[in-house]
Amino acid sequence: MLEYYEKRCSEYEAIYAKPERQGCLAQLEQELCSLVAGKQVLEVACGTGFWTRRMANSAASLYASDASQQLALAARESCEGVNVQAGVVDVFSIPQREQFNCLVAGFFFSHVLVQERSSFLAGVAEALSPSSRVVLFDNRFVPGSSTPISRTTGTGDTYQNRSLVDGGSFEVLKNFPSTDQVASLLGELCSTVSTYENEYFWLVSGETLG
Ligand SMILES: C[S@@+](CC[C@H](N)C(=O)[O-])C[C@H]1O[C@@H](n2cnc3c(N)ncnc32)[C@H](O)[C@@H]1O
Repeated sequence: MLEYYEKRCSEYEAIYAKPERQGCLAQLEQELCSLVAGKQVLEVACGTGFWTRRMANSAASLYASDASQQLALAARESCEGVNVQAGVVDVFSIPQREQFNCLVAGFFFSHVLVQERSSFLAGVAEALSPSSRVVLFDNRFVPGSSTPISRTTGTGDTYQNRSLVDGGSFEVLKNFPSTDQVASLLGELCSTVSTYENEYFWLVSGETLG
């Protein structure tokens, strides 16, 4: 997946230009910014920094991270003039970060295998202090707008075939859990879980248990 996203870096944000999604994207941005307002935010899997830039003026502080150094640096560069730190963090082994009271993962949960969801979320909760906010958001599957599913495994994981402008093609894990499924899993580690969804996107947030 890292190779795919590094190669896709220069064309990644075209996904956010789909005309039919603009209203829902704006609503998602509003939800996200209200949840990170005044928080010390660790953003994981930040990619090119599309959401980093949108959170930068709401968060009290913002550390954008990705498993790819190339993408973490691209995110920081895209935030020129705004006080954003950036670095490499693997979401499956997040070091304890007491300076953060909010973790944001945008469009990453869909890339977690069904059987790894619980351990992924447990790692997120363990890395944060009690009563920290966790914010996850991602795509809903919308026929005609989403890339079709090419393969479904016995464990319920779904894959898409994706092409890059240089002709490269990749099969990418892309799951579409329901908002209720995500809320239920997060509810095992967090209190006050709340959900938001519109036609194209879902967002689930909660506060880690004390
Ligand atoms: C779909 S992109 C999301 C980028 C960005 N959050 C956004 O919404 O525009 C997924 C990102 O996850 C990163 N990634 C993949 N595996 C990762 C891991 N184990 N830890 C942290 N980031 C990872 C990829 O490099 C890529 O930037």
